[in-house]
Amino acid sequence: MRDKIFWTLFILSLISSFGFDAKAKKISIGLLGKSVHPYWDVVRRGMEDAAEELDVDAIFYVPQSEDIAKQIETLETWIAMGVDGISFAPSDPDAVISVIAEAMKRGIPCISNDTDAPKSERLCYIGTDNYTAGKIAGEKMVEILNGKGKVAICTGSITAMNSLERMKGFRDVLSKYPNIVIVKPDPLVDNEDTARAVELAETALLDNPDLDAFFGVYAFNGPSAAKAVKTAGKVGKVHIVCFDTTDEHLSLIEEGVIDAAVGQRQYFMGYLSVVLLANMARVGVENMMMLLPKNEEGDVIIDTGVDVVTKDNLKDYIKLLEKWGGKR
Ligand code: BGC
Repeated sequence: MRDKIFWTLFILSLISSFGFDAKAKKISIGLLGKSVHPYWDVVRRGMEDAAEELDVDAIFYVPQSEDIAKQIETLETWIAMGVDGISFAPSDPDAVISVIAEAMKRGIPCISNDTDAPKSERLCYIGTDNYTAGKIAGEKMVEILNGKGKVAICTGSITAMNSLERMKGFRDVLSKYPNIVIVKPDPLVDNEDTARAVELAETALLDNPDLDAFFGVYAFNGPSAAKAVKTAGKVGKVHIVCFDTTDEHLSLIEEGVIDAAVGQRQYFMGYLSVVLLANMARVGVENMMMLLPKNEEGDVIIDTGVDVVTKDNLKDYIKLLEKWGGKR
């Protein structure tokens, strides 16, 4: 996997450095995220850094919370504006099929980031391998619970592929342990609304006084569960394994409220989206696609990887984040 990222970055950096005509019309790229959250601020930072380096205009938009209608409306606006490329993270992969087809028909290359839409005409996906990452979270949960306990799963979406794949990976691991039970309702769905996520975690604790752990699928799920666990005075009794590593997650790991977080490398989702689309605009989509490594199905997937963070490796991880622009 590391080799794949290395070669991809190498090829992209080579292309970025030639064929640039300073007098050409400035390239504009749209990057669409899923909800207002510090997780997406890091994606935006990656996008802005690449845009500055490559002299590209980059536009960023996220709806307030999960909102597929707003996402489609934004994509339509960008198509009408005639942007040169689009990177999108769909809350519902099937709902964007026709708008992505329209963009591609008009010669606007589209790629997905953070969560995929493989049935659309998107050219490639840049982001986490979510099924594998969900399995990693499951293995961490089994280790923390010693193979026994009651777990609540909290997520922001039951349509977005990243959420579905993470939950599948997590469940596939847990299903091998008959003494681990997932409580109902399963999952707890908050539609990427933080206040709702806290409410649902609080209710789960009241309904299940013997709950042993939360699995937080999205970035705000871990901290929301943490809030509920703190209010209930159950820190250390109710464990938390979750995704993402914003400042809030890192403080909660330090405090011992979150046991483990699967950190995504979302800075690169933003950065590479711009590098790829800017080069498609400069050297042509086909020339660009030809250079990218394909998987067995002929698809281009740029796996940005994950890092498992616990109290034990927290300091080293923060150093890594600083190097990557994840903390500034
Ligand atoms: C997911 C995003 C989501 C974000 C904020 C991340 O874990 O990858 O899709 O929008 O959390 O909830």
